[in-house]
Amino acid sequence: MDQHVQIVVLDFGSQYTQLIARKIRESRVNAIILPSDTPLEQLRRIQPRGLVLSGGPGSVFADDAPRLVFDIREAGIPVLGVCYGMQLLALELGGKVHGEEEGEYGLAQLKVEEDPLFEGFDAESRVWMSHGDQVQLPPAGAKVIARTESCPCAAFHLPAESAWGVQFHPEVHHTVHGRELLRNFLFGICECEADWTPENFVRQMVPEIRALVGEKDHVVCGLSGGVDSSVAAALIHRAIGDRLHCVYVDNGLMRAGESEEVVTTFRENLGFNLLPVQAAERFLGALKGLSEPEAKRKAIGGVFVDVFEEAVNHLPEVRWLAQGTLYPDVIESTRTKGPSETIKTHHNVGGLPERMKFKLLEPLRELFKDEVRQVGEELGLPHAMLWRHPFPGPGLGIRILGEVSAERVAILQAADRIFLDELKASGWYDRSWQALAVLLPVRSVGVMGDKRTYENVLALRAVNSTDAMTADFTHFPWELLGRISNRIINEVRGINRVVYDISSKPPATIEWE
Ligand code: XMP
Repeated sequence: MDQHVQIVVLDFGSQYTQLIARKIRESRVNAIILPSDTPLEQLRRIQPRGLVLSGGPGSVFADDAPRLVFDIREAGIPVLGVCYGMQLLALELGGKVHGEEEGEYGLAQLKVEEDPLFEGFDAESRVWMSHGDQVQLPPAGAKVIARTESCPCAAFHLPAESAWGVQFHPEVHHTVHGRELLRNFLFGICECEADWTPENFVRQMVPEIRALVGEKDHVVCGLSGGVDSSVAAALIHRAIGDRLHCVYVDNGLMRAGESEEVVTTFRENLGFNLLPVQAAERFLGALKGLSEPEAKRKAIGGVFVDVFEEAVNHLPEVRWLAQGTLYPDVIESTRTKGPSETIKTHHNVGGLPERMKFKLLEPLRELFKDEVRQVGEELGLPHAMLWRHPFPGPGLGIRILGEVSAERVAILQAADRIFLDELKASGWYDRSWQALAVLLPVRSVGVMGDKRTYENVLALRAVNSTDAMTADFTHFPWELLGRISNRIINEVRGINRVVYDISSKPPATIEWE
């Protein structure tokens, strides 16, 4: 599935590489990320209008420093090197880079010369720097076009090769004119067209899905009510209609009212072929006696796969499994990764494709999360569904610490509903990235009327984040927290104390298990 790609970003490993592609796409130009060792032949097949060399975490002088695998002069398209990419470009084109002891991290004042890259810039503006090495001598024929106090060559332009290098990060929002710089590169220099829109994406994907699946095949999709699977299903439904079968597994661990909402939205309002499967008892049965988080996650994942498989066996012959895989997952899986520790096992549809010999249909593989939401709007999905907070596959099962029982699920559902209702009513739901309630395996003493109580403690958690990798707790007003706590303690039998979790991630995680 090849959408009109106009910019290729070669990834030298910076934490900001994805941000470069996202910022470019915000200007409605499709940019894709490829590994730093992508050969020139591959680029030629894609025929981009411009190339960006990303930043990277190391020094260009390190033994294992990634380099280009072709001569940049042969690319024949404009190139923009950012940070590490700038230093690499300077070296490739005959300039000199200096390894600095101190480096420069944080904000700096940038003074610019006149240049097409700086169209619309103030003579001086704030930029974000994060580098050790820096360019000491630009390549022969290149002009230094910007400087900061501690970086005499903060940007260069080599007209003969249509090459630009910038030491600062235009993709980071602290760089005041970052957006203008990227737009100047895209439209002024590379002459890109602004055609990467949700309408165009849908228009192009629908026939592609039809062609891929063919005239007869059927597709199954596990719907959870979450953004990614909902949008993937809506797109496929538009392409093949009733040959898409959605299976909604009610594991009894959903939020209050959520199962009914999914069925109403997809079956009644949108007319999907939706098969709801009631499996709460099986999940609760498998969770009986388990209190260790990984054991609970594995049990939930295992039952899900069994239930899903049984449901699919009742459908006409299905060859395809639709999944809401997004672009960040695709990029991560193509990156060379070192051994990393499993912090939590994510069990959504683990192992299904191999076990059932499905072919995978992943129509959102090219999109970032914000783009998925826009495509969802384009397909007419309800706003509230598209802007829902993330919800983990194992549901409330990992928000009830210790053993899970039907009674504890009901207590948590009631408390969680009050929490979210209050956030929505006060406008704080949209100002927080994710909010959740956690039922603790701890009881405390309280007093209600004149009576002693000895009941459960509930923890509220809400975080601000952009990608769930790091997070800070949401700074709610005290009055709001007070109101939520009062309502929960008064209205939910079984809870007599509420606490607010103020840990950041890392070192804590967002979910408690
Ligand atoms: P943690 O707790 O690791 O969570 O900070 C990061 C984000 O991932 C979500 N999460 C999951 N999502 N299946 C999912 O689809 C899972 O098993 C799962 N576990 C955690 C979590 O809610 C947060 O948004």
